[in-house]
Amino acid sequence: MVQTLIKELQKLPLEIVEILIKSLQALPEEAKEAIIDSNFIATSFLDALGFSSQERIPEFQTGNGGDKVDYALRHNNENDIFLHTQNNPYVLVELKGRDINLTYGSKSYKNTVKQLKRYLLAPNCKTVQWGIITNSKHIQLFSKHGKVICPATPCLEINSQNIGEITCQIRNQIKHTSKALTVAIYNNKGGVGKTTTVINLAAVLTSHKKKVLVVDFDPNQRDLTDSLNIKSGTQTLSNCLKDKKDVISLREAISPYAKTFKGGITLSFDVIPADDTLATTEEDKLRNEFSFHSLRKKLEEVKSDYDYILIDTPPNWRLFSISSVYAADVVLIPTKHNNIRSLQNAAVSIQQYILESQKARQEKTQGLEWGAIALPIFFNGEKITDAARVNAKKAIDGIIKQIKQKYKFDLIPYFYPHYQPGNNRRIFELPSNAHIAYSTFEKIPAAYKSKVAYDYYSQLAKEYFLQ
Ligand SMILES: Nc1ncnc2c1ncn2[C@@H]1O[C@H](COP(=O)(O)OP(=O)(O)OP(=O)(O)O)[C@@H](O)[C@H]1O
Ligand SMILES: [Mg+2]
Repeated sequence: MVQTLIKELQKLPLEIVEILIKSLQALPEEAKEAIIDSNFIATSFLDALGFSSQERIPEFQTGNGGDKVDYALRHNNENDIFLHTQNNPYVLVELKGRDINLTYGSKSYKNTVKQLKRYLLAPNCKTVQWGIITNSKHIQLFSKHGKVICPATPCLEINSQNIGEITCQIRNQIKHTSKALTVAIYNNKGGVGKTTTVINLAAVLTSHKKKVLVVDFDPNQRDLTDSLNIKSGTQTLSNCLKDKKDVISLREAISPYAKTFKGGITLSFDVIPADDTLATTEEDKLRNEFSFHSLRKKLEEVKSDYDYILIDTPPNWRLFSISSVYAADVVLIPTKHNNIRSLQNAAVSIQQYILESQKARQEKTQGLEWGAIALPIFFNGEKITDAARVNAKKAIDGIIKQIKQKYKFDLIPYFYPHYQPGNNRRIFELPSNAHIAYSTFEKIPAAYKSKVAYDYYSQLAKEYFLQ
């Protein structure tokens, strides 16, 4: 009842929808960018998104060379009028004419997304949380969290029937920015360093003043819970997941991990420890009690309390991993350069499992949400010589070629994110380190014991997450 009421209140006023429809209908079939801007974006779309004329800056300088994005938007705060102060933009809009095809997957679509990403990461756009591309035929919303840019909606086709609803959806998403980025750390291959990555990433992000929640969703191994010696909360995760009436708070399942250093400084992050009931109950029975989207739904409750939610997953593709990837915004995939299975499994996760998960999310949200995306893989925990690096790249090139031929799926951005034709096939490496290897027994993240380990994981955090 309350939900319906909220939805009703969030709807766009009818007169605004009518203006949107009329201006969209009046656009010439081959409208150029300037016409779309003056007759649709500036006159109705930005108003409908809720940004007045003093809350938008056309041709905003991103601070990267001479780059200018078509619009930067932000709500005014009392005397801080965005049009005048021009600082702390919140949304960027990159506009195209109808001559630029923005159909998902087309070459010009890919170039436009690349362009938007460049703007979103530019020096004057650090505070931006959302980006939009549109040519008045297609529209897509992207979210930005630190360095991570994710599609927040699929690339949607717009017409006079759906423009009101789509604009309203984007307006609501922008309004209710949920703070945390949810990261599932996953590889179907065991022993590649998933749990170790979760623990140490949580430790360094905390030291960078980020609020972090860690979820041990590998209840059969409970490595994370045991290696940090985490006690149970007042509620179990299984009770939270089974809670169809929404009466149990997930906060009750949380226990803190804290480490006090010599100077008296304490660093602390939160943990949802492994739950033995989940380990001892058969999966078929669990599937009757909750579903693969229950974890995502339950985490919604605490998303605004944290900057990052990190989920540790088991090395298989069953209920716990499926639920973790479904709950995530992004998936971080550790691999081993000298273990071909870990590389093949990474490829399968990206090309098959994560796509499956995206499809499920799109179905569940009637096509309004995109689902988790894979971050580029990294090599974890082995000493790498130049010769070994060359061999690993040969193996990877074979996998990329095979997947391209078989599924027409391009894995290059997931293995070589900095790739330019002819060069730069750098893969991030997290080296082997004795403190990391032994830290399980010490009940302390290696990053809090050893400066070297701290630096390694800080580099990982900077490579993937921190801007
Ligand atoms: N960078 C590293 N340097 C040294 N040892 C490491 C490093 N990363 C992980 N290890 C060690 O490798 C082993 C496996 O790591 P971990 O338990 O994190 O893998 P996992 O992927 O979570 O395994 P599983 O699939 O069983 O859950 C552990 O003993 C861990 O201490
Ligand atoms: Mg593990």
